[in-house]
Amino acid sequence: MSQRPIIALDFPSKAEVEAFLDNFPKEESLFVKIGMELFYQEGPEIVRWLKGLGHSVFLDLKLHDIPNTVEKSMIGLAKLGVDITNVHAAGGVKMMEAAKAGLKKGTKAGAKVPILIAVTQLTSTSEKEMQEDQLIEVPLKDSVLHYAKCTEKAGLDGVVCSALEAQDIHQATSETFVCLTPGIRPSGSEVGDQQRVVTPIAAKKIGSTYIVVGRPITQAENPYEAYQSIKNEWNGAR
Ligand code: C5P
Repeated sequence: MSQRPIIALDFPSKAEVEAFLDNFPKEESLFVKIGMELFYQEGPEIVRWLKGLGHSVFLDLKLHDIPNTVEKSMIGLAKLGVDITNVHAAGGVKMMEAAKAGLKKGTKAGAKVPILIAVTQLTSTSEKEMQEDQLIEVPLKDSVLHYAKCTEKAGLDGVVCSALEAQDIHQATSETFVCLTPGIRPSGSEVGDQQRVVTPIAAKKIGSTYIVVGRPITQAENPYEAYQSIKNEWNGAR
């Protein structure tokens, strides 16, 4: 089966998501990302609704709290039937283990436990900011690789990272470690505020497991055409 790029539904309301989804054939099963913007407005119902329409959901809430709170929250997210969700690796190995335990507890018997990944350093954080604000004195790349190793140790499935980091992360962990990568732009498109962008075909070659694409699809004149073209490129058809 061909792989679907994950569409970032960066919209402020369900009404806008509905208008966007009207661009796609009803029977097309999509993989979508719900972030904080949409989730904090529409609540868990937005996940149930999208799952009910037959879509797969990456719930991008980046949990970071004490292990007990994260575990209890993850029980609830698993009950919603999310396919992928995430935490901040900075919460520590114990917090990540608790997150995984929560997902297992909340998953119905016989169902697949959601894929759990961690954010290492946010891509908006510069090396200087990391060193000054977090008092982490190593280079940014070392911190990213360290967090990736902690994530693996905690039994999680992988990390959110730049496609440009995927190779090093796979070397530091394993080939099957999930690298879910935003910052994707089809060749010749608007870069927007993303600094280091990679095309879908390059991301595939470097080792991305999943790609997340927002504006090149959501802001396209013809979102379905843009989606298909990115999907084809991602699957090596171009
Ligand atoms: O519109 P665009 O393709 O840039 O959207 C990418 C999506 O991935 C957005 O939802 C953005 O918040 C998210 N993201 C990112 N970089 C990260 C983590 C998440 O761009 N490091």
